[in-house]
Amino acid sequence: MKNGVGLDVYLVIGILLGFAFIEIIAGHLKKSKRNKGEWIQEMGGFFVLSLLIKPLIVITTIYIGSVFFNQYQNILSDWNIFYLVPFYILIDDLLQYWYHRSGHEYEFLWKLHRSHHQAEQMGFFISYRNAGLYYVMMPNIWWLSLITFLGGGYAVAIGLVLKQLIIISSHSTLSWDKHLYKNKITSAIMSVIERIIVTPAFHHGHHGKSKLDGISDPNGNFGNMFSIWDQLFGTAVFSREFPTEYGLQIATNEKWTTSYFYPAVKSKDSSNILSKGFRKIDSTSFSPLITELKKGEKYLWCQCGKSQSQPFCDGSHHGSKIKPLLFEAQKDGKVRLCNCKATKNAPFCDGSHVQLKKQQSK
Ligand code: FES
Repeated sequence: MKNGVGLDVYLVIGILLGFAFIEIIAGHLKKSKRNKGEWIQEMGGFFVLSLLIKPLIVITTIYIGSVFFNQYQNILSDWNIFYLVPFYILIDDLLQYWYHRSGHEYEFLWKLHRSHHQAEQMGFFISYRNAGLYYVMMPNIWWLSLITFLGGGYAVAIGLVLKQLIIISSHSTLSWDKHLYKNKITSAIMSVIERIIVTPAFHHGHHGKSKLDGISDPNGNFGNMFSIWDQLFGTAVFSREFPTEYGLQIATNEKWTTSYFYPAVKSKDSSNILSKGFRKIDSTSFSPLITELKKGEKYLWCQCGKSQSQPFCDGSHHGSKIKPLLFEAQKDGKVRLCNCKATKNAPFCDGSHVQLKKQQSK
């Protein structure tokens, strides 16, 4: 492969085997509850990405570049590698931050990215668990192809290996940082490290089921290699703890072929988000819901109006920019929780539904 791209595949396989070996020794793989389909999607996803999707995109980019923009070919080949690697990596990671975040905020991309979050256990391989189309559209692969065409293939190979080391370790069950938060000196060092790179605690928080555990935020911590983007764009949560529950709030059971080949292969279950013509049902109403709360307990109030467990969030907001509201009950007893989602005193009803009803009946 061109200028060193392709070498990284062998090194990444080496990193994966290293993590596999350690996870086997630690007994984590043996305890894994993954079914056959999940293993096929995770491992197959890695090989299809590395041996088919990525090479095809690189070859296509180089072909188009050499036909239409031949004068720019290899213009980066004189760049010092110490400038080129950071240049490549920083833009790559910024692109991936926004792509990953979009994968949570836009419905079509969420359908392609969702299987990554279905995993109820972490593991080094789940970073390769997405629909195939998610990788084809991933701007990073086009970016690395462009840099390769421009003569920066070695910078790409070095950058990818560094990046995969961080990404694979942040998905692994090994959690190298876990014990470092407990010691005063290493904890101080970690407060610098976690503000630069994505640590396992930071990324595990992104895979936790919901904010109810006080650790997770599936709508935050989108960074892949660096946590700086989350800090810059207001999505960082540093809990330094690990969720007790991973996965999606709504359990799903589609086949791996649907998860991987969507939208070419759709679910036959009409209630599944990956089925043909699936629409989320509006579950708002023009009256508040009288709900019993317990003092000191935390609740997630649905703000998107699509939950099927109103007034609480069931995870239906995924694929949109709307997030649930976390609140703690101040006393025991019944309260009127807003279900028109127009209240100015969330999560409580402030009477806005009366006005809203009048407006909609005009
Ligand atoms: S289902 Fe989560 S905010 Fe509506």
